[in-house]
Amino acid sequence: MDSQLLPALLLLLLLAASGPRGQGTGSREASGNSPEQVPEGIPEEDGILVLNGSTLCLALQAHRALLVEFYAPWCGHCKALAPEYSKAATLLAAETVKAMLAKVDGPAEPELTQEFGVTEYPTLKFFRDGNRTHPEDYTGPREAEGIVKWLRRRLGPSASQLEDEAGTQALIDAHDLVVIGFFRDLQGEDVATFLALAQDALDLTFGFTDQPQLFQKFGITKDTVVLFKKFDEGRADFPVDELGLDQGDLSRFLLTHSMHLVTEFNSHTSPKIFAARILNHLLLFINQTLTSHRELVEGFREAAPPFRGQVLFVVVDVDADNDHVLQYFGMKAQEAPTLRFVNIETTTKYAPAGGAPVTKATVSTFCHSVLNAEIKPYRLSQEVPPDWDQRPVKTLVGKNFEQVVFDETKNVFVKFYAPWCTHCKEMAPAWEALAEKYSDHPDIIIAELDATANELEAFAVHGFPTLKYFPAGPDKKVIEYKSARDLETFSKFLDNGGELPMEDTAEEPQAPFPETVNSTEAPKEEL
Ligand SMILES: *[C@@H]1O[C@H](CO)[C@@H](O)[C@H](O)[C@H]1NC(C)=O
Ligand SMILES: *[C@@H]1O[C@H](CO)[C@@H](O)[C@H](O)[C@H]1NC(C)=O
Ligand SMILES: *[C@@H]1O[C@H](CO)[C@@H](O)[C@H](O)[C@H]1NC(C)=O
Ligand SMILES: *[C@@H]1O[C@H](CO)[C@@H](O)[C@H](O)[C@H]1NC(C)=O
Repeated sequence: MDSQLLPALLLLLLLAASGPRGQGTGSREASGNSPEQVPEGIPEEDGILVLNGSTLCLALQAHRALLVEFYAPWCGHCKALAPEYSKAATLLAAETVKAMLAKVDGPAEPELTQEFGVTEYPTLKFFRDGNRTHPEDYTGPREAEGIVKWLRRRLGPSASQLEDEAGTQALIDAHDLVVIGFFRDLQGEDVATFLALAQDALDLTFGFTDQPQLFQKFGITKDTVVLFKKFDEGRADFPVDELGLDQGDLSRFLLTHSMHLVTEFNSHTSPKIFAARILNHLLLFINQTLTSHRELVEGFREAAPPFRGQVLFVVVDVDADNDHVLQYFGMKAQEAPTLRFVNIETTTKYAPAGGAPVTKATVSTFCHSVLNAEIKPYRLSQEVPPDWDQRPVKTLVGKNFEQVVFDETKNVFVKFYAPWCTHCKEMAPAWEALAEKYSDHPDIIIAELDATANELEAFAVHGFPTLKYFPAGPDKKVIEYKSARDLETFSKFLDNGGELPMEDTAEEPQAPFPETVNSTEAPKEEL
């Protein structure tokens, strides 16, 4: 899997950016908002209004739709957004969509950040009809086309109303994924729910109808949302039950059913793979350059339909840039073709018994046996290095972990780290110093374990660094250390037998996976 395996990163976002075009046509005429009416005195940069406490008010009066970015001069994610934001402003100038983009230097305008509850950068808020008290949080993509699409879905209708067969068929034909709501009563709440969902599901195209001849043509007898797709099963129906349309249920249904039965893993598909929030993934590792490997995908695909919504079927090309996936499973490219199963929430991994060929039957059997808990997960472990106890900081791996930390005569303090984790690197000197300081205490062991390469039966490590203290004694006690990561506080903790006289402020550990392969920055920066 990509480094973005982290469930916490699986935002509730609907489909990621890019895909079929939105139906933002025929905007509900917004007037009095042409660029000519920008009040004099508000400076612009690259087509974006630069606002402060006194000009925000003017901008709200002049623009019925105003998207405001709160940024900080030092914020890297804001810098990355800047070119896309100005490109969006250019695109908007050519649109029927009447919306204006603006920005506010947050640190320079503390009253505004306080008024709008801005706690991280960048934060974007969407103001309509000059309403200053109830802006909508911008949750859309951070690239130009996506920003425009998001605005279009709000300013125009988010779904087209369909009246006849020709128009309906044309809509279905024009896109890979089209969602049509068949509702008997267009005034009902279900339609409002449907249109609200359509505002955010930018990858899908939406239509709706109340026309009886369309119900009949598509064989529909009660209110139903239908996903039409140009692949796999071609169509998936979501009947509305007596309780009414639930936006969360519909959203999950659309995510699940808009995925291909088999998805090829790459940087473009990985956000969707994780956004689908299907926790079980079955991966087929093949070398795409080999015909004999490519031929296995067919049997893999044939096994997939009964597991739709429960297990996501993914093909990983070991010949492409997927080393991080191999590493995650503790595999080598030479092992392909082979299968692995992972639950991305618990990170438990399963491998099939060696030797079996990959066929529809073996894939299906493997999947069932994992789901029925008939096979045991495997855990990664490095080999114990011969010099594991030669340096002041001892090296632990999966294979020697329990033996060392549950030694009844030793107090063991362990740092669980990831090689890419910046907070771990920052605390490394303090950890070394601690180990030096206590090197003549035979009952104290300072150790570290690379938790990306060693998985433990005792517990899963969810953030980096995680620090745990295993005091001597027979009862296998584990104390989580959550205080300041410096020599003084560590020493105080050890001297006090695994307790601090007073709790010092904790630093949050980093997420268990980096945001991208190369970056360990958090998605947003705290104020
Ligand atoms: C806000 O910006 C306007 C236009 O640049 C400027 O004239 C005004 O002095 C600024 N107000 C404050 C309080 O900084
Ligand atoms: C702003 O919007 C909220 C929620 O829709 C509404 O209750 C409020 O009255 C609006 N305020 C103004 C000034 O229009
Ligand atoms: C994939 O197969 C080709 C052809 O046999 C081989 O040259 C290449 O090294 C293989 N890739 C990997 C990562 O093993
Ligand atoms: C990561 O860094 C390598 C080498 O600097 C680069 O080739 C690759 O494209 C980067 N990947 C991402 C996802 O940024």
